[in-house]
Amino acid sequence: MINHLSRDYLRQTLEHDVRTGLVSDPKWLPPKWFYDSRGSELFSQITRLEEYYPTRRELAILRERVADIARESGADTLIELGSGTSEKTVLLLDTLRPKAYYPVDVDAVTLGDAVSRLSAKYPDMEIEGVCADFERHLGLLPGEGRRMVAFLGGTIGNLDPAARELFLKDLRSSLRPGDTFLLGSDLVKDVGRLVAAYDDAQGVTAAFNRNVLHVINERLGADFDPDSFAHVALYDEDEDWIEMRLRALRPMRAHVLDLDVDFAEGEEIRTEISAKFRREGLTAELDKAGFDVVRWDTDPAGDFALSLSVRR
Ligand code: AVJ
Repeated sequence: MINHLSRDYLRQTLEHDVRTGLVSDPKWLPPKWFYDSRGSELFSQITRLEEYYPTRRELAILRERVADIARESGADTLIELGSGTSEKTVLLLDTLRPKAYYPVDVDAVTLGDAVSRLSAKYPDMEIEGVCADFERHLGLLPGEGRRMVAFLGGTIGNLDPAARELFLKDLRSSLRPGDTFLLGSDLVKDVGRLVAAYDDAQGVTAAFNRNVLHVINERLGADFDPDSFAHVALYDEDEDWIEMRLRALRPMRAHVLDLDVDFAEGEEIRTEISAKFRREGLTAELDKAGFDVVRWDTDPAGDFALSLSVRR
């Protein structure tokens, strides 16, 4: 495994994010800290929830279009950003049959499991996990030949427009002309369905949301009481994004690093945005960053899109 996230690096960036986000008003934390092994497992459970449609929709599009996508990309190397359990990737691997597959994820445990599972399934493929943060390590992407970078599940929605612009520019500069970018993006739709997808009846998403506080407790020795925070999911119609927040159920003081973090009753920490897209807007963003969109495939309901772009 290639590891760009040493213990020191992880600790330093989490520390930096905590020092920045939890002293801001309003408070916020970046969503990448959801994903320790428990968080990855909770997300995996989310993908199987009735309310959470994106995974099923994306899988349906892939099933239908994977042969066309593979042919059009002509790739012999697949790099997947935010690969998690790599469940959907099997479809792509079966069809594309690349010489090499590099899954990239922040959670080393989930990454290691995926690599062992897939190495057994594809003994002739070069499979190497890359433990990295896709917002910071794009310059270090491995791979020879014609590469396809896959970024599935709608994870691009975790980036706000400015971060997205930066991400797409960095991605373009780390690719060569003719390399392709397969992007899964969740589309704007009925607000009720969007909110339900992020506030499921079983409370799995709530547990996933609170997990960020468990991660901070464990890694930084903090004393947050995750159960004293309510899970909040709302849709911002001006920004076209879902926001997840943790709302303090009572006044609290938590200790983390050398900070006293005070909460008024009802005060919230923003833990995630998950942007929803329209074809025109996303195509324009890709074009501006130097990608030509050559395919735009959606499920029949128009819930989710898979786009294939070529780096100019
Ligand atoms: C993994 C970022 C695609 O935004 O839908 C699921 C994460 N958060 N439920 C998403 C998530 C709450 C998910 N992504």
